[in-house]
Amino acid sequence: MRKIVFFITLVCLAVPVGAAEDNLKNIMQGLGHNFAQIVDALLVGDREQLVQAAGKIAQHPEIPAYQRILIAEELGEKIAQFAQFDQVVHSLSLGLQETGLVATEAELLASTQEMLTACLSCHTAYKGRISPILE
Ligand code: HEC
Repeated sequence: MRKIVFFITLVCLAVPVGAAEDNLKNIMQGLGHNFAQIVDALLVGDREQLVQAAGKIAQHPEIPAYQRILIAEELGEKIAQFAQFDQVVHSLSLGLQETGLVATEAELLASTQEMLTACLSCHTAYKGRISPILE
């Protein structure tokens, strides 16, 4: 079971657009920057910027293989929940990218809030465990 979860997760986390120098920390810094752009876009009503920033989150670079392996070793079966948080952020950002020009402001705000909840849920559960093993 554990091996299967491990394998599925490695496959799920592999989005095929990563540059060689990407690592989890700078991918996250990118997400932080893009999330701030979404908030900023909501505040000034710039739908184009919102769609662009959401697209960058949805297509964030892949975590490099050596880090995926370290994370999977550290988390064991919990890797499934880790991947689940990533998936929630992915679907919400994709939704914002696709509907950003037409959705109501309330809908955009709700998705943005849900996304932040998913970001922080993963941080609360796993950041403290993962950060030290990737240094
Ligand atoms: C699946 C788990 C997970 C999700 C989802 C997630 N993060 Fe993270 N995030 C982490 C981990 C783990 C670290 C610590 C990385 C490290 O220290 O190498 C981190 C670190 C960060 C950092 C700090 C980077 C630094 O310089 O120390 C920022 C900013 C960040 N995430 C933003 C976001 C945003 C914004 C989202 C949602 C759009 C998000 N994260 C979603 C796991 C996640």
